[in-house]
Amino acid sequence: MTLKILNNCNLMRNNTLALQSTAEYFCEVINTADLREALTFARSKNLAVTVLGAGSNVVLKNNLFGLVISINLKGIHHSIDGNNVVLSVAAGESWSELVEYALRNNWYGIENLVQIPGSVGAAPIQNIGAYGVELSDVFLSLDAMDIRTGEINSLSHKLCGFGYRDSIFKSKRKNRHIILEIKIKLSLTADVQCDYPLLSEALKKETRKSTGPITPQIVARTISDIRRRKYPDPSIIANVGSFFKNPVLNSDSVRRFLECYPLAPVFEINGAEYKVAAGWLIERCGLKGFRSGNVGMSSEQALVLLNYGNASSRELLQFSESVKQQVLSVFGISLELEPTVYGSF
Ligand code: EPU
Repeated sequence: MTLKILNNCNLMRNNTLALQSTAEYFCEVINTADLREALTFARSKNLAVTVLGAGSNVVLKNNLFGLVISINLKGIHHSIDGNNVVLSVAAGESWSELVEYALRNNWYGIENLVQIPGSVGAAPIQNIGAYGVELSDVFLSLDAMDIRTGEINSLSHKLCGFGYRDSIFKSKRKNRHIILEIKIKLSLTADVQCDYPLLSEALKKETRKSTGPITPQIVARTISDIRRRKYPDPSIIANVGSFFKNPVLNSDSVRRFLECYPLAPVFEINGAEYKVAAGWLIERCGLKGFRSGNVGMSSEQALVLLNYGNASSRELLQFSESVKQQVLSVFGISLELEPTVYGSF
């Protein structure tokens, strides 16, 4: 046995909401041999397995029974294919560092996803997206280990079943796979996506200052500035970015909704479904910047829930439940949590 497995491990530093949570067993893996050893250990003791990346999209309750595996697999490889570059990136790499690396190499397609916290392995699970681009736009496939059998399978784009902040790893195949590596396809030619309203407004100001074309580097810098203003740094105030998903309505519901609230920000997903901005709903309920005890909604972006210090998972989830209830009673719309909740009180 070379792998270090800790007993009763505090996970406060392993989740960006800084919640106090204890893992019955905990280990960090840096290669697939470690991972196999960890899974053998879990099987021998009949333990449930929970996988953590950077912990930037999870709510951890007080106790996580079983084995918590922190994925720290590293490595980025690339191959040029005509006008494209295919990147194979290990799950433990940082997503935002990957975006910077791609930009430094003039590989384009993920510049709008700059500064999204979290690990590369977590990115497909919720199909990360921002400012008009989603991971699924550049995704080719991923390699994942089956937790039960230890087998490594390649899953194509189609098999991953991507949707808005969704994939099969959140539903049918939840807790079945450990993502080891993803493959994405970027372009050697810039093709900037600037249609997202907040981005195009900010870029208008930016282009007033300079005359050249809008480059992916300008897009990334503009988005970084927006994000710095709207999303507090979790190392200063603990948070997981958006705490709720933007609710998705069908055409009939969205029409009725817009009759009552014509100014509400609504974004079309496809011809039949529309996202309503949850931040707007929360703000209209008077909850932007509202704080109760150790928990509050940010005053810059009402969709971001903040742990001001010592919130317990119970306090935090009770607070988020009260936000959901208020939105439901005012608008008749149910909000869903964006992060995944693990463990028990
Ligand atoms: N809005 C308000 N009040 C607020 C916040 C937002 O009225 O307090 C309105 C804005 O005025 C705008 C609309 O809501 O008209 C959308 O706001 P924003 O562009 O800030 O985006 P969002 O829908 O709140 C989503 C993602 C973010 C992503 C941004 C940009 C989800 C759950 N969140 O937020 O992703 O960065 O779009 O694309 O889809 C994350 O997933 O953690 C995340 C930060």
